Amino acid sequence: MKIKNICCIGAGYVGGPTMAIIAQKSPEITVTVVDINEKRIAAWNDEDVNNIPIYEPGLADVVAEARGRNLFFSTDVDKAIDEADMIFISVNTPTKTYGIGKGMAADLKYIELCARQIARVAKTDKIVVEKSTLPVRTAEALKNILDNTGNGVNFQILSNPEFLAEGTAVSDLHKPDRVLIGGDLDTDEGKEAIQALVDVYAHWVTKDNILTTNVWSSELSKLTANAFLAQRVSSINALSELCEQTGADIKEVAKAIGMDSRIGPKFLQASVGFGGSCFQKDILNLVYIAKSFGLNEVADYWEQVIIMNDHQKRRFAAKMVKTLYNTVSGKKIALLGWAFKKDTNDTRESAAIYVADYLLIEQAELVIYDPKVNKEQILADLDCLGTRSEEENRANITVVNNAMDAANDAHAIAIMTEWDEFKALDWEQVYNDMLKPAFLFDGRRLLDRHELEAIGFEFYAIGS
Ligand code: NAD
Ligand code: UDX
Repeated sequence: MKIKNICCIGAGYVGGPTMAIIAQKSPEITVTVVDINEKRIAAWNDEDVNNIPIYEPGLADVVAEARGRNLFFSTDVDKAIDEADMIFISVNTPTKTYGIGKGMAADLKYIELCARQIARVAKTDKIVVEKSTLPVRTAEALKNILDNTGNGVNFQILSNPEFLAEGTAVSDLHKPDRVLIGGDLDTDEGKEAIQALVDVYAHWVTKDNILTTNVWSSELSKLTANAFLAQRVSSINALSELCEQTGADIKEVAKAIGMDSRIGPKFLQASVGFGGSCFQKDILNLVYIAKSFGLNEVADYWEQVIIMNDHQKRRFAAKMVKTLYNTVSGKKIALLGWAFKKDTNDTRESAAIYVADYLLIEQAELVIYDPKVNKEQILADLDCLGTRSEEENRANITVVNNAMDAANDAHAIAIMTEWDEFKALDWEQVYNDMLKPAFLFDGRRLLDRHELEAIGFEFYAIGS
C-alpha cells in the first residue's frame, strides 16, 4: 500500500517540524497539517516564512521549500481527515490538572477528541498513527473508540513516537538515531500498515535505522527514553551539589566519567534543572502507570528524578538570595534567557519560570531578556503558576529587548538559558553597568570563571 495523502492533527512543536520534513523528503505525498488553533495555522501560513510559530534553526527553509507544493496548513480538520489515507495524531498530552491522576497522569482528552472526530468523518480505511507521547496501551482505547463509533471502515493503529529534541528538531529529523514504529505484527493488515509507514520514512532514513516492534513496546519505549535522559540530568545535578561542598568541579567530573564508553559524554551537563514539555510530564506519567499497577517501588524510583529536579531549581534561587546578603527585596535582578534551552522559543516547564517565581516571592524586581521569547509569553507563564495576581506580576517584572538593558543597574544577573549570544556578550561592559558588587550566577555552566572573576564579578556556577 502506497501512501499518497497524509493528515496530521496538531500543528505544534512536533506536528509542524515532523510533517515539514516528511513533505520535504516525499514530494509525491500530500501532507496537510491541521489544528483548531486558528492563530497558529495563520502563522504557519504567513507569507513571511520567518513568522512561522515555532522557532527551530533551519525550519523556515524547509517550510519555504515544501509549503504550497505538497505541504499545507489548515483549520479544516474534517476535510483533511476525509482525504487522508494515513492520519498522524500529534496533539498535546499534558499532565492532568483535575480529577483522578491529577498532577501525574497524562490528560488524554485531546487524543480522545481526535479519535472521535476521525471515527465520525472517515468514510474509507485509514491508518492512524500515534505521534503524541502516550501511556502504554493507549492504542487499545483508540481502537475501541474508532471501531465502536466509526462508519464500519477499517482502522489500523500504529505507534510512532517522536524522539526529536527542540532546538535541534530539523537535524534530529533529517538524521534520526532511529525511527520506531509499533504495530500489530500478528495480522497481515497490521504488517501492511507498518510497511506503509516504513516506506514513508525510507525516503530518507536507512532501513537499518527503522525499528519495528509491537505497539506496547513502542509506546513504552518513548516514556522510557525520556525517563533515562532526564535521570542522567538529575544524576549529574545531584552530584553538582556535592561538588559545591567539596571543591570538585562538576564539569571535570562529567568529562572524566563521560569518557568511560559505558557511560558516554552526552546529557551530563549540570544545569539549573531540566525543563521542557516532555521530561517532567512523561516521568510523572510513568510513575502514575507504575502506581496503577501497584508497583510502588518502581514509581518511587522514577519520581526521585523529578524531586531532584525541583530541588535543583529551588537550590539555585536560594543560593542567589543567600549570596545577596540574604535579601533580594527591592533589588533589581536580571534573568538572561527564559526558554527551557537554547534555539527554541518554547518555555514550557522552563527552570527560569520557577526561579523567577521564587525570587518574586522574595520581593525581587526582575528584568528579563530572552532572544526568542516575548513579554506576553513570559507574563503568561508566571500568571499560570497562580502564585500572585496578574497585576503584581506586571508590577515587578520588566521585559527588555537586549541583554545590556537587563544588566543596567542590576545587583545580580542569572544565566537561565545557554543562548550563544550570552557567551559572546561584552561582559566587561555588563560589569560596568551593574551595581557593585556585581553578582553573576551561571545556571548553565556557559561562562568562564577565570575571565569573569578577572573582570571583577562575584561569580557562582552550578557545580563548583
Ligand atoms: P503542542 O502543544 O505544541 O501542539 C499540539 C497542538 O495540537 C496544538 O497546537 C493544539 O491546538 C492542537 N490540538 C489539540 N487538540 C486538537 C484537536 N482536537 N484537533 C486539532 N488540533 C488539536 O504540543 P507538542 O509539543 O507538539 O507535543 C505534541 C505531542 O508530542 C505530545 O504528546 C508530546 O509529549 C509529544 N512530543 C513532544 C516533543 C517536544 O519536543 N515538544 C517531542 C516528542 C514528543
Ligand atoms: C526531550 C528528549 O531529548 C527528546 O528525545 C524527546 O523527544 C522530547 O524531550 P527536549 O525536551 O526538546 O527533548 O530537549 P532536551 O535536549 O532533551 O533537553 C531537556 C532539558 O534538559 C533542557 O532543559 C536542557 O537544558 C536540559 N539538559 C539537557 C540539561 O540540563 N543537561 C544536559 O546535559 C542535557
